[in-house]
Amino acid sequence: MKTIGVLTSGGDAPGMNAVIRAVVRTAIYLGMNVKGIRRGYNGLIEGDIIDLDLRSVSDIIHRGGTFLYTARCPKFKTEEGMQAAIENCKKYGIEGIVVIGGDGSYKGARDLSERGIPCIGVPGTIDNDITSTDYTIGFDTAMNTAASMVDKIRDTAQSHDRCSVVEVMGRHAGYIAVQTGIAVGATAILVPEIEANVDEIIEKIKQSSKTGKKHFIIVVAEGVQNVGGVEGVAKRIQEETGIESRATVLGHVQRGGSPTVRDRVCATELGNAAVHLLSKGIGNRVVGYKDGALVNYDIFEALNMEKTLDFDMVEIAHETSV
Ligand code: ADP
Ligand code: F6P
Repeated sequence: MKTIGVLTSGGDAPGMNAVIRAVVRTAIYLGMNVKGIRRGYNGLIEGDIIDLDLRSVSDIIHRGGTFLYTARCPKFKTEEGMQAAIENCKKYGIEGIVVIGGDGSYKGARDLSERGIPCIGVPGTIDNDITSTDYTIGFDTAMNTAASMVDKIRDTAQSHDRCSVVEVMGRHAGYIAVQTGIAVGATAILVPEIEANVDEIIEKIKQSSKTGKKHFIIVVAEGVQNVGGVEGVAKRIQEETGIESRATVLGHVQRGGSPTVRDRVCATELGNAAVHLLSKGIGNRVVGYKDGALVNYDIFEALNMEKTLDFDMVEIAHETSV
């Protein structure tokens, strides 16, 4: 392969820039050229494609976001969009692509691979919800951001003897909520994978109050249904315990910021691995981690895998928060 492309797709995640850097530097090290495709699959359809050299990726390893921009691109799901993308691959001499994103982006990579453009998927999302890997780039940074925000919320909850109910991101999954909840010593954590029981939380707050506890943190994953959101949970807690309660939605702050060391290192390792595969003419695969080891899987197999929350951690959180 002489020329490869790289793009970021779906929601951005801290560490995406570090992947792009690793891709560009590794490809050039192995004697290949690199094209940057901007705004996800949109750039491929519209020909928004730039040359990347060694210096194009200087000074980005520590920056959040993605300097190639990212987007969701519904047109890429149509045959017309797909054909336009393939035409541009031919026009720009792109023989393989590193796609950095989530399972949705992997589906696009699969479709391109099926049509003769070998792709390698690199897991980039704060949600850690990609089925084929234990870890996704951006997760650690997002959790650290969420934990530091909740620490600040705790200061004011403590000063006022309040209960703070905090919503964290995660789309349909509770990975961010569980680990952040443990890290901030939350009294309770609600995740979409387990049916929410606000009555239980209220009982726990009442019991803990009897042992002298005066302020409380409840972490709620955004995907939790049927509780009226964090406002609804806070309202019920206030009404039924008499403890003044506040609701906070952390939101997109969790998607930004300088990536942690873990995210920078994983990004570099995974970006490097993706290019080594392409350089050997191997496509249609995704890279990731399984039980601490670097792995790669066939993209079809990867998209059919299943992954569940670590329910032992949920239990540990429960047993240690009283
Ligand atoms: P993520 O990659 O984070 O899961 P999305 O699910 O929003 O994010 O997907 C990102 C982009 O990947 C979509 O906007 C679309 O361009 C592409 N994509 C998603 N699903 C498919 C699909 N079934 N077929 C082709 N492309 C897809
Ligand atoms: O997938 C990352 C994520 O931040 C989710 O946690 C969240 O549900 C979603 O993206 C938000 O998307 P948007 O940036 O379109 O608001």
